[in-house]
Amino acid sequence: MATVIKNGQVYLDNRLTQCDILIENGCISAIGQDLAAEQVIDAQDKLVSPGLIDMHVHYRDPGQTAKENVHSGTLAAAHGGFTTTAAMPNVVPVPNTAELLQKMITNNEQNGVVHVLQYGPITVDEVGDTLPDYAGLKKAGAIALSNDGKGVQSAQTMYKAMQQAKDNHLIIAEHAQDDALFNLGVINSGSKAKKFNLRPITELAETTQIARDLLLAAKTGVHYHVCHVSTKISVDLIRIAKKRGVPVTCEVAPHHLLLTENDIAQNDSNFKMNPPLRSKQDQQALIRGLLDGTIDMIATDHAPHTQQDKAGSFNEAAFGITGSETAFSELYTQLVKKGHCSLTQLLAWLTIKPAKVFNLQHAGRIAIGEPADIAIFDLQTKKKLHQQDYFSKSCNTPFTGDTVYGSTMMTMVAGRVVYQAKEQ
Ligand code: DOR
Ligand code: ZN
Ligand code: ZN
Repeated sequence: MATVIKNGQVYLDNRLTQCDILIENGCISAIGQDLAAEQVIDAQDKLVSPGLIDMHVHYRDPGQTAKENVHSGTLAAAHGGFTTTAAMPNVVPVPNTAELLQKMITNNEQNGVVHVLQYGPITVDEVGDTLPDYAGLKKAGAIALSNDGKGVQSAQTMYKAMQQAKDNHLIIAEHAQDDALFNLGVINSGSKAKKFNLRPITELAETTQIARDLLLAAKTGVHYHVCHVSTKISVDLIRIAKKRGVPVTCEVAPHHLLLTENDIAQNDSNFKMNPPLRSKQDQQALIRGLLDGTIDMIATDHAPHTQQDKAGSFNEAAFGITGSETAFSELYTQLVKKGHCSLTQLLAWLTIKPAKVFNLQHAGRIAIGEPADIAIFDLQTKKKLHQQDYFSKSCNTPFTGDTVYGSTMMTMVAGRVVYQAKEQ
């Protein structure tokens, strides 16, 4: 049955245009005025966007499915308007072989309600210096390589990894962290570390490794992508490297754009993530980095944990917060509504930019012939973020309780509705 989405403000060719979208056999077959079909979705006064892309999520599947699995994680993604996500390999077991990776990809396809791309690890088990068979991982379908959750400690190992990744046309997506400098810290080295008497994380743990790896990327020519940049100096280093022609891209997470260490109240572990919330100057530098193109895109680092894992203070609790279900509405409310950026800029950072960075052919664009991966948002109605509305198995986010604009009305993948808001 053909469907038409009528009268929405459609994000098309990086502009907003009022038009209709006709969907037949799961694909977009026409875009224009006065289109008709058997089934009509009224999008008057709503934003119609390509399904959002989130290149950084943790689905804990296999191994830690009490926190999340591919099904619950993708239901959460759909609730947030995402139709393509990319899952990190810090699961149990780590997909070190083509066979294990293939298994994960099959699970992603069978149990995901949105498209789930899959990262392989940079080193075996995300530790040490042994590299897995990159050619095998690539052939099995790895979208890129990442040791997310951990940094690669040896420069020589990263150098070899980059050489082999380059040979296999794989991107190295890095969680930049020097463990010796990190020194078992739990919170940014700043005012709150002192106030709560917690072990500090110096920004050097991130910046020194980015500096090292920019040099290695320049030498090897690999596409080096920095995950969740969180400091001003990281942005400055990447800006200089880009000017010098280093093939580097990077992402920033919504929480680093919207929160600072000053927001951490009462030693609350829902504000504990890695990298940690930084200073006001860092936050402002991240926004500037996005605006001047140094930072290419936004990705959530959706990191679900059970209540038990998050219990206790900053010292005991696991690092990480969920992000899929709050990202768009928080970013729209706090960045676009407050005038820090335009709606089309925000949409670019969540659609066409990640598609370009990761060379995704059929995501992030509304165009004739493309699959109907579409999200519809209500930008006008205020809504409170309630824990009971989350589809994720976990609820470890500091954003619960906020009142936001931009809730998702509907998400479809290949023309099939995977999330629909309840009637108001
Ligand atoms: O806060 C984080 N949580 N940072 C990471 O790098 C890993 C993630 C996780 O897996 O929970
Ligand atoms: Zn990370
Ligand atoms: Zn992560």
